[in-house]
Amino acid sequence: MLRPLFFGALVFLLFIYWRQPSSSTSSAPVSKGKAERVIRHQAVRHNSGASPDLSKASTSGRTVAVGDLHSDLAQTLAVLRLANMIDQNQNWSGGKDTLVQTGDIVDRGPDTIAVYNLFDNLRKQAKAAGGLVVNVYGNHEVMNLGGDLRYVTEEDYASFGGRQKRKEAWDVRTGWLGKQIYSNFNITYKSAHTVFTHGDLEPEWARLGVDTLNFMARDAIWNGQFRAPIFQGDGPIWSRGHAMQEGGEEATCKRIEAVKKALGVNRLISGHTPQYQTGKILSICNGSYMVIDVGISKYYGGHLAALEIIEHNDGTESVYALYPGGKRKV
Ligand SMILES: *[C@@H]1O[C@H](CO)[C@@H](O)[C@H](O)[C@H]1NC(C)=O
Ligand SMILES: *[C@@H]1O[C@H](CO)[C@@H](O)[C@H](O)[C@H]1NC(C)=O
Ligand SMILES: *[C@@H]1O[C@H](CO)[C@@H](O)[C@H](O)[C@H]1NC(C)=O
Repeated sequence: MLRPLFFGALVFLLFIYWRQPSSSTSSAPVSKGKAERVIRHQAVRHNSGASPDLSKASTSGRTVAVGDLHSDLAQTLAVLRLANMIDQNQNWSGGKDTLVQTGDIVDRGPDTIAVYNLFDNLRKQAKAAGGLVVNVYGNHEVMNLGGDLRYVTEEDYASFGGRQKRKEAWDVRTGWLGKQIYSNFNITYKSAHTVFTHGDLEPEWARLGVDTLNFMARDAIWNGQFRAPIFQGDGPIWSRGHAMQEGGEEATCKRIEAVKKALGVNRLISGHTPQYQTGKILSICNGSYMVIDVGISKYYGGHLAALEIIEHNDGTESVYALYPGGKRKV
């Protein structure tokens, strides 16, 4: 996508050069070096502009998103296989696709280390294949980093070699897992037309913009400020305002429209509010908002589902829910 754009810009600039009468007395052709500099300058200016599509232009048109995994390796592998993102050896098979996990990898189960390490491997393998693995902070990541261990299981402690070893491992600055998480997670991720968070993104937060939200969260985590406003109840890791349709359906869809407008996206994707009664992806407000936490872990019933977004060449998108029984448009 970038290449035709760049080529188009080049042709256009050469056309402008050709059309413009030279103001200098000599009619010597523009030096190649200068033309290249101008074109590069324009291309850079164009790239750093507000168009959200260009930064993603080098990745492919398929994005798969999975919700809360809660330390359940078997179910994590099952949902990634369902979406064709890994092979039988637990290796990346997603090619140039993007995989987004919307947080809450940890707590309520035994396989914390195994699931974080799986994502760390996939991240590297995806990168080598031209794909992308994106991890978003859930409230349980932030709780564990901040020392709130209410939902840690005994098997989880044992897998780290005890409570003290676990505490050391989660240190953002010195622990092997804390460092891994800090350097690879953000509180929100925006692809071409979609924004992903763990909890719900309320308009007041969305208006700050994705980069500011990510910076605020990183800064707070690095400095141990786990009570920062961004980690409070109405913030992007805890809110259930959209999922619970607070204020009614109409008011909810209005808030969602405000977020879409603020961020220039078509839809919001959240985890966090488990849809274990149905085991299905919740879609409201005409597909503008979806909850992909279907209760994948056995703790929440072991329902398998992933969201698939296919971007077509004409800029339109198709959105599907992937279930063991088949693929359904949402
Ligand atoms: C894929 O999985 C196999 C078996 O687990 C492993 O030996 C191999 O190194 C993996 N490939 C990559 C690219 O990591
Ligand atoms: C996190 O977000 C910031 C700002 O949006 C971005 O610059 C950075 O690359 C992101 N980090 C990762 C690991 O995606
Ligand atoms: C719902 O979305 C479809 C396709 O994006 C659009 O054609 C339709 O007008 C929308 N309906 C409402 C009520 O917004």
